[in-house]
Amino acid sequence: MSNSYRTEHASDSMRGRSRVTDTPDLHAYYRELEAVSATAFWKRANEIEPWEPITRYSPTLWRYDDLRPLVLRSAELVRPEEAGRRVVVLINDSDAGRQHTAAVGWLFSGLQIMKPGEITPAHRHTASAHRFIMEGGGAYTVVDGHEITLEGNDYVLTPNGCWHDHGVFADGQISIWQDGLDIPLMNALETNFYAVYPEERQTPLHARDDSPLSYGAGGMLPAYGPAWDKPYSPLQVYRWATTRDALYNLAKVSDGCPFDGHIMRYSNPVTGGWALKTLGAHMQMLKPGLHTRAHRHTGNVVYNVAEGEGYSIIGGQRIDWKKHDIFCVPAWTWHEHVNTHKGEQAFLFSFNDFPVMEALGLYMTEAYDSNSGYQSNNGSGS
Ligand SMILES: [Fe+2]
Ligand SMILES: [Fe+2]
Repeated sequence: MSNSYRTEHASDSMRGRSRVTDTPDLHAYYRELEAVSATAFWKRANEIEPWEPITRYSPTLWRYDDLRPLVLRSAELVRPEEAGRRVVVLINDSDAGRQHTAAVGWLFSGLQIMKPGEITPAHRHTASAHRFIMEGGGAYTVVDGHEITLEGNDYVLTPNGCWHDHGVFADGQISIWQDGLDIPLMNALETNFYAVYPEERQTPLHARDDSPLSYGAGGMLPAYGPAWDKPYSPLQVYRWATTRDALYNLAKVSDGCPFDGHIMRYSNPVTGGWALKTLGAHMQMLKPGLHTRAHRHTGNVVYNVAEGEGYSIIGGQRIDWKKHDIFCVPAWTWHEHVNTHKGEQAFLFSFNDFPVMEALGLYMTEAYDSNSGYQSNNGSGS
């Protein structure tokens, strides 16, 4: 759906909008309403029903050069069994971000660090979670008894309601990953439950990496055994090498999308839908020198630069990025991406709340149709 809500010459003084002129009699009437916990709708209508979505969040950049030393220090200051989860949280640079502990919109994000031999105690919650592995080696997670090994740029799921613990094997390296959860959404819906597992860690119930080894070959599913009937993907980790090859192959046969270059969705291989019910994720590849056209959509997006360097223009503001910088695009905000390198691809991992928008029939998108599809800030800083 695009532009279907556009009203010609929209103005709050036009028919159909609240345009009551207050009088002394009305003021007296408002006070009587307040005394019985009520108000006049026309006093608030134009504010609570804007012509189009107005985000309360700001485009925010978290530079990995700034964050990484602080994340490393957290590993010296606090033990994971004390912290529950030892995470440095990314707070959107806005009042709403601080109030809701949100990276943007209804999305929470943070950087978690684990040293060899450490473990985050097993627990579960109604918030859905997923992780993008940024550095290290020998990390693992156990999700409902499935043990999964994790390496750089892997994308791993923790579906809502699943028991999970994670850590780094004793012979591994210090590992840092980005967590993404829908904690602000769960709290807005007042549906947030949390439980601690009876033991510190789960005993794996299946062979190590049974999920990716069963479901990780594109288009192939096991033809025997019980049918997968859970509301999330049976593939619980998406390997970086497979993801990267998928994008390289797509680029051999497609020009990609004008707004995102070559972009692919992490999907449930059984249904083709999103991997999780409330959180979506993509990996996109920007060819050398590519400058995408601007668009905007409902829903919020958090990006993590998997490879490369460049910048994005978000709401007219230029944000320069390089590997493992994180930035966000708030709902209904114009954005376009640029790979400034002349010889290397750039890869952007991102996660979003699009499954929620789609399930509620609220996903809308619009192309920027003036100035040849580019925002007026063309990277010159003007
Ligand atoms: Fe968790
Ligand atoms: Fe977009």
